[in-house]
Amino acid sequence: MAIYMENIIALCKRKGFIFPGSEIYGGLSGTWDYGPLGVALKNNIKSLWWKRFVTDREDMFGVDAAILMNQNVWKASGHVGGFSDPLVEDAKTHKRYRADHLLEDAGVDVKGMSLDAMDVAIKEKGIKSPDGNALGDVRQFNMMFKTHIGPVADDDSISYLRPETAQGMFVNFKNVLDSMHPKIPFGLAQIGKAFRNEIAPRDFIFRSREFDQMEIEYFVHPDNWQDAFEHFRSQVHSFVADLGIRSDRVHELEIAPEDLAHYSKRTIDFEYDFPFGKKELYGLAYRTDFDLKSHADASGQDLSYFDEESKTRYLPHCIEPSFGLDRTTLAVLSDAYAVDEVGGEKREYLKLSPKIAPVLVSVSPLLKNKPELVGVARKVYSDLKKKFGRVSFDDNGNIGKRYRRQDEIGTPFCVVVDFETLEGVKEAAAGASAAGISAGMTDTVTIRYRDSGEQERVAIADLATKIEGLI
Ligand code: GAP
Repeated sequence: MAIYMENIIALCKRKGFIFPGSEIYGGLSGTWDYGPLGVALKNNIKSLWWKRFVTDREDMFGVDAAILMNQNVWKASGHVGGFSDPLVEDAKTHKRYRADHLLEDAGVDVKGMSLDAMDVAIKEKGIKSPDGNALGDVRQFNMMFKTHIGPVADDDSISYLRPETAQGMFVNFKNVLDSMHPKIPFGLAQIGKAFRNEIAPRDFIFRSREFDQMEIEYFVHPDNWQDAFEHFRSQVHSFVADLGIRSDRVHELEIAPEDLAHYSKRTIDFEYDFPFGKKELYGLAYRTDFDLKSHADASGQDLSYFDEESKTRYLPHCIEPSFGLDRTTLAVLSDAYAVDEVGGEKREYLKLSPKIAPVLVSVSPLLKNKPELVGVARKVYSDLKKKFGRVSFDDNGNIGKRYRRQDEIGTPFCVVVDFETLEGVKEAAAGASAAGISAGMTDTVTIRYRDSGEQERVAIADLATKIEGLI
C-alpha cells in the first residue's frame, strides 16, 4: 500500500503535477504546490463542478468572498470557541500529535469520545508517542490561523484565514437576496482556499494546512430539508462518476449524533478507498438555520426570507454539500493510477477521464525531421487546439517513447501524422483541383487510445467530431 502511494507521489513530482511546498528551502509541512499539469487537472475538476452545480442549474448563484473576514464572523459561527482537534504532546521532544489518531492507530474506536475519555484510554493502553516517550494530557487545539489586519496588533485587529469557504456564503445571503431576488429553494456556491493549522498534516494532499474547497449552501424551507438532502446525496455520487472514479470505491458513512459538528443535525460523509485506507472525501450536512440565526443574532441584521406566495417570513434552513478539491484530485489520481505491460515493458500510467485529463490530445509527426509531416501535424495541432485547448504538440524521441510519456500523464488520445497521411494529402489535393473540392477531405491520421493501446485511422476532417464524441 505504502509503495503504491509513494509511486503516485513520485509520478506527481516527476511529471509536474504536484511538488512539496517551498521545496528549495527544505519544504513547509502541510503545503503542496501544483505544477503545470496539476493546476490543469485541478482547473478541469473545478470547471466540471462549477458547470454541474452552478451554470447548468437555475437555482444556484456563485460567490467569491474574501478569505479574510471580520473576526465576529468566526465568533458567531462557533469557530473561535470550538474549531479544534484533540492535541497531545510528547513529554520529552514536545512534538505534538492528534490524540484521536494515536488512539485509532492503537485500535481504539474514538467515535463520540470526550477529551477526558481519550486521556484515560491513552493511559490505560499505555500509548506512547511515535518516539516512544510518555504523553502529556489531551487538550483542545484551535486550528484557525490567526493574524492581525493593519499595522496595530491588538484584539480589535485580529482576523483569521478562513477555515471553510461556507461562512463567506452565509454572510452574503442577504446581499444575494437583495440583488438577485432568488426564490427559495436556491443555493450559493463557492470555490476557494481554506486554511487549517492541522496538528498532523499527512497522506500527501489528503490533509494539508492550505487547501481548496468547493462548497454549496442550499437554502430551503425548514419542512423541505430532507428532499434537498437526498437530492445532493445522489448528486455527490453522480459527480464522482463524472470524474471517472469507480463507484465501488466510494462509501457513505452516517455520522453518529454524538459525533456531529456543532452546526449539524445530520451528516453523511462520503469516504473513498485511498491507498492508505478508507477516508473522508466529502461531507453532506444539514446545517439547519444554525448559521443564518447565529449571524442574524450577532450582527443585528435581519436574515429572514419573505415568501411572496404564502406571505410568510422565515429563516431558511441549509443543506451543505462540501467537496475538498485536493482530496478530489487525490481520489482521481489514486483511481487512475495503473501499471500494466505493453510490448513486454512495464507501463505506469494514469487512466484519467477525457473530461479532466490535463492533456486531451497529443499530436505528433511520425518523424520530426520530415518537414512535410511536421507541417501537416502543426496544422492538425492548431485546429484541435483552437477547439479543445487541452492539446499538446510532441515530437520528442521515437513514437513509442512519446506514447509512454503521454500515458504517464493520462493523455487519452495520441494523434500521429505519418506517410499515409501525406499520400492522402497529395491525393486530396489532386482530387480537389480536378473536382473543385477542398483539400484535406481524404487524408487520414492515426488515433491511438491510451488504455487499450489500439490505433485507428481517422480522416482529419472527422477528427474533432470523433474526439468530441469520446469526451
Ligand atoms: N463547511 C463544512 C466543512 O468545511 P469539513 O468536513 O471540515 O466541512 C469539508 O471539510 C471538506 O474539506 C472535507 O470533506 C475534505 O474534502 C476537505 N478538507 C477538510 N480538511 C482538509 C484538509 N486539512 N486538507 C485537505 N482537504 C480538507
